[in-house]
Formats: sequence, structure tokens, C-alpha cells
Amino acid sequence: MPQFDLGAWSAARLALVEQCLSGWVVDDAPAGLGDAMRYAVLDGGKRLRPLLVLAASEALRGNEHAAMRAACAAELIHAYSLVHDDMPCMDNDVLRRGKPTVHVKFGQAQALLAGDALQALAFELLAPDDDKVPAAIQAALCRLLARAAGHEGMAGGQAIDLASVGLPLDEGQLREMHKRKTGALLQGSVLMGAACGGATGQARDALAQYGAAIGLAFQVVDDILDVTADSATLGKTAGKDAAQDKPTYVSLLGLERSRAHAQELLALALAALEASGLPDTRALQALARMVVNRDN
Ligand code: IPE
Ligand code: IPE
Ligand code: MG
Ligand code: MG
Ligand code: MG
Repeated sequence: MPQFDLGAWSAARLALVEQCLSGWVVDDAPAGLGDAMRYAVLDGGKRLRPLLVLAASEALRGNEHAAMRAACAAELIHAYSLVHDDMPCMDNDVLRRGKPTVHVKFGQAQALLAGDALQALAFELLAPDDDKVPAAIQAALCRLLARAAGHEGMAGGQAIDLASVGLPLDEGQLREMHKRKTGALLQGSVLMGAACGGATGQARDALAQYGAAIGLAFQVVDDILDVTADSATLGKTAGKDAAQDKPTYVSLLGLERSRAHAQELLALALAALEASGLPDTRALQALARMVVNRDN
């Protein structure tokens, strides 16, 4: 197989994702709500979840219309989770993606509503009233995204996060929290891509394992970067976890063992792709490496 250029592969897809997000998140929602929604979604973010959807779908030659909708829907849920995560009742952050957070700019009530509206829009995108996306795929995508976002996934993990401030969680409890609050949506993104390609059996199971491994690795690295990177590089306030007494991989294992654990999870993710039986998983491999070796 020829060398894979993740930069070039991503650039082409990110341009389309940005164009679609900008078209779908319109600014004519009432009373300034559209401005808050667009501010939360556009001009920022690594767009990792959309790239995972597209890479998984491409590995299976999936339905491209469905994949682009799923890619944007995953990003809308992620953006909504960030808006709420930053609010004073949660992490109380003032900086996100290099800009003032949504509640700082638009007020708390508007931030709450922007998050709500982005979540609803995500599901609307998954169920278009046209025949380019078969009904069975639409239903599968809604089911996967709902599960990733709800009490079994992100919202449940965020509840554990808030209830765990100041508590000495053991590694099993910490893993469970991270798998839900962050891992579920990343794994869900991979599984949505797989659903666009009608994956079953060995390929689907392998992609589920890949998604679980990179999903957890992502939050392990987020915990590491909170300690090692600066706010300008991160585009969000560094050092928040220790300041707020959050249990993290770094507080439990220390930096070196956390880094080693992220590498172990990367190895698991790559092994799962090997076992998938899929002919070309180069984009998924490169994204897994990016998750673990990133610096923001
Ligand atoms: C940050 O996610 C929040 C977590 C789930 C840990 P990202 O690091 O993907 O944030 P953006 O989208 O690039 O801003
Ligand atoms: C947030 O985790 C996970 C979400 C569901 C948004 P963090 O609270 O660690 O994310 P950052 O560090 O603020 O981006
Ligand atoms: Mg948080
Ligand atoms: Mg936070
Ligand atoms: Mg964090």
C-alpha cells in the first residue's frame, strides 16, 4: 500500500464538513439563538468525530450522503456537550477553541438553549426526508447517536464526572467514567460510519473495539494535555482538572504511566483494525495515531 497522507486526506473532507455544517446550522433561529449555535459549532475544533465517521464509512465503501450527515451530527452533539461542559454549573470555563465560551459571550440561558437546539438538529440531520439515505440506515444512525449521547454515554459520564470531584476513584471507576463521557461519542462516530457501510460480524466487532480503544485513549490524552500543555496551544484553560480536584488518569497514575497507557490503547486499536478483515484501514490507523500523539 502507498504511503498515507493524513493531512491531505483530512483537508479534503474537512472542507466539505465545514461547508455542510455552515449550511445546516443556520443563523435565523429566533432571538439570537442562531448566532449562539453558529458560534458554538463553526470556526474551531479538530473535527475528529466527523473524520472518524467518514473514515469508517470509507473503509466499508458506505453511503456518502448518510456519512456526511452522520459526521456533522456527531460534531453537533460534541459541540453541544462542550457548551454545557463549560457552563458555571459544570466546569465553569471561559475559554474554548481559542474564543470566549458560549455562556460568556451570549449568557447562560442562551448557552443552555444553544446546546439543546444543537442536539435536536443533530437528530434532524440523521432523518432526512429524501431517499438518498435508506430508512434502515437512518434508524440505525439515530439509535447509535442517541446511545452515545445519553445516559449510557456522554450525559451519564458527565454525571459521574460531577459526582466524582474530590473522590479517589480507582482505575476501574475512572475508566468507566471516561468511556462514557468521551469514549462513547468517539466509538459511536466509528459505529455510525460502519452503519453507513452496512458493517456486520467481524468488521463491525473490530470497529467497535477500535472505537472503544481510541475513545478511552482520547480522554487519557486530554487528561495529560490538561497538565502538560498551555492554554494558547489547547485553546482552552490548561490546568483545570487539578484546580477543580477532578479525578483523572494523571492524578491516578501519574504522567509517565498515563502516557504508557495511551500507547497501549493505540496498540489495541491498531490490532483491532488488523483483525477487521477490511482491505484499507489507513485513514483509521492514522486517526488513531493522531488521537494519541496530538499536542492539542
Ligand atoms: C474536548 O474534545 C472535550 C473532550 C471530549 C475531552 P476535543 O479535544 O475533540 O475538542 P475540539 O472539538 O477539538 O475543540
Ligand atoms: C468533557 O471532558 C467531556 C465532554 C463530554 C464535553 P472535559 O471537561 O475534560 O473536557 P475539556 O477538557 O473541558 O475539553
Ligand atoms: Mg468536564
Ligand atoms: Mg471541561
Ligand atoms: Mg479535559
